[in-house]
Amino acid sequence: MAIEIKATGKAVPSQRISNDDLALRIDTSDEWIRSHTGIGSRYIADEDTACSDLGVLAAREALNLAIERGVVGEKTTGELVLTVDLIVLATATQDYYSHPATSCIIQHSIGAKNAAAMDITVACSGFIYALETAAALLNADRRRKRALVIGAEVLSRITNWEDRESCVLFGDGAGAILLEKTEDSGRGVANRGLIRTILGADGSGWEYLIVQRGGSRHPWKKGEVVDVPPSIAMNGHAVYNFAVGIITETIDRLIKEENLNLNDLAWIIPHQANARIVQAAGKRLKIPEDKFYLNMEEYANTSSASIPICMDELNRSGRLKKGDLILTVGFGGGLTYGGNLIRW
Ligand code: ACO
Repeated sequence: MAIEIKATGKAVPSQRISNDDLALRIDTSDEWIRSHTGIGSRYIADEDTACSDLGVLAAREALNLAIERGVVGEKTTGELVLTVDLIVLATATQDYYSHPATSCIIQHSIGAKNAAAMDITVACSGFIYALETAAALLNADRRRKRALVIGAEVLSRITNWEDRESCVLFGDGAGAILLEKTEDSGRGVANRGLIRTILGADGSGWEYLIVQRGGSRHPWKKGEVVDVPPSIAMNGHAVYNFAVGIITETIDRLIKEENLNLNDLAWIIPHQANARIVQAAGKRLKIPEDKFYLNMEEYANTSSASIPICMDELNRSGRLKKGDLILTVGFGGGLTYGGNLIRW
């Protein structure tokens, strides 16, 4: 059985905030942010928009594209959505604390009545984990055929807007893909679909990217006055060093262990955290910069949404062709990491 990506979608809020806009609120500059991160702007949700709202828009875009391009047998999005067996949402910014799973809200909103739904929380590695999870669950039962894998984030809700080192990095957005289990080919480098995934974690770095308050370790207490809402605290240097090392290792392993070489790859799609992290990894592996697809200049770091947003841009603009080999790679809070090798 092969697990193929049939269609893609993305959604970002309408409000675009440039570095210059940010510099009006905090002590920073366009020059500093660009030179240290490669980021030029980010999209920020209004206060009525939650994670599921962006996830729903991205999922609908993917379903509509599948119909528009005629890559599924169904004739309408309404018919197609009823064939979705599973929704896996990667997010660190669920609509509600603990439950319900935000994927259930998305399932209801899009009318995917026949789909099971679950959330995955491994921060910025979320999409890579979610894709492998969805593929494994499709393969586990012959009756399951289709899944929506979504990465959706409203990071602006958990950003500490007084911390200039971290607040300049994040943005809101969502990306989605429609997966289908096809009968005609298996999982292997010559065939279409998801070929191989590397997943990993280094929990010794759990404190480096953390939202301290609100969980069972440090719950809110009755009567407590909340001065600062729960927000991301980050050890930027520790995350940077981990990221460069693990991205380098993951790309290298995926290529070598599948007996590929760099020229076989059409694109490497890294998690869009910081252009300097990607450049440093590229330099170590002698990978030319244009092999990496980067769009953090426009969207900043949208955590688990960043890789599917990239996929959608490449797919819709025709820069991904049938048969192209692509490699995703990412890291995130936990610390977690991973990469997928996919034949488009
Ligand atoms: N504007 C202006 N100056 C700033 C800013 C800012 N926004 N932020 C920090 N500075 C200053 C610092 O105060 C420091 O000043 P000083 O020398 O007077 O003390 C100077 O800039 C240099 O600071 P550094 O921390 O050394 O800057 P560095 O080059 O290391 O870049 C950065 C910091 C961009 C955060 C980098 O460490 C990084 O990218 N780390 C990885 C972060 C990341 O990817 N996080 C997301 C992970 S994904 C997830 O799971 C959420």
